[in-house]
Amino acid sequence: MKIFDRESLDNLDISSKVNLINALPGAKSVNLIGTVDGNGRENLAIFSTVIHLGSNPALLGFIHRPIRYFGHTLKNIQETESYTINQVHFGIQSQAHLTSQKYPQDISEFNITGLKSYFLDGCKAPFVKESKIQCGLTLSSIYEIKENGTFLIVGLVNKIIIDDQFLRPDLKFDHKAAETMAVINFEEYTSLSRS
Ligand SMILES: Cc1cc2nc3c(=O)[nH]c(=O)nc-3n(C[C@H](O)[C@H](O)[C@H](O)COP(=O)(O)O)c2cc1C
Repeated sequence: MKIFDRESLDNLDISSKVNLINALPGAKSVNLIGTVDGNGRENLAIFSTVIHLGSNPALLGFIHRPIRYFGHTLKNIQETESYTINQVHFGIQSQAHLTSQKYPQDISEFNITGLKSYFLDGCKAPFVKESKIQCGLTLSSIYEIKENGTFLIVGLVNKIIIDDQFLRPDLKFDHKAAETMAVINFEEYTSLSRS
């Protein structure tokens, strides 16, 4: 076994340190976050930090990088207080990954990837039609993490659209049958049922 202590961590070059620390939580879920800006321009981006914060009320969180990385997602959520979180499955993984690139605000990642957007009453943000679980959320709070300038975005789930062929009678979703994707080490994707 290899042991890293605080001093040896501090002495690592930055890319080795990033590789090591990013792997610590293990496999992470990947989701597509859909938003619009104040002019209704659509945006879609992949995130691996969506977490369940609580079921009653239904709250999800995700982490956004510091603002110097200029994210359309965070800016749009601040403007409209609305966003969607959409499952990534095996069939759309390569399209989902394309949304991690930087595009100008007037270019929609839906057009770039061919994924289809659609809208429902009560949610300003676009849903991803191909996803087998889609959630509409209203912004609840944004907390700055003082240690590194990242943001925890907390949202209240107010709509769930779900492919009922994967929904068990007790309402647990069968992520394995739906081939939901996870990510390890930044960009190594794996399906929960096949890789
Ligand atoms: C697998 C993967 C996971 C990512 N997860 C996050 C994340 O959790 N938080 C974040 O701020 N950026 C994350 N990114 C980077 C964003 O996808 C990227 O910055 C994207 O361009 C943001 O788009 P936007 O400017 O339209 O919001 C991730 C990228 C990849 C490839």
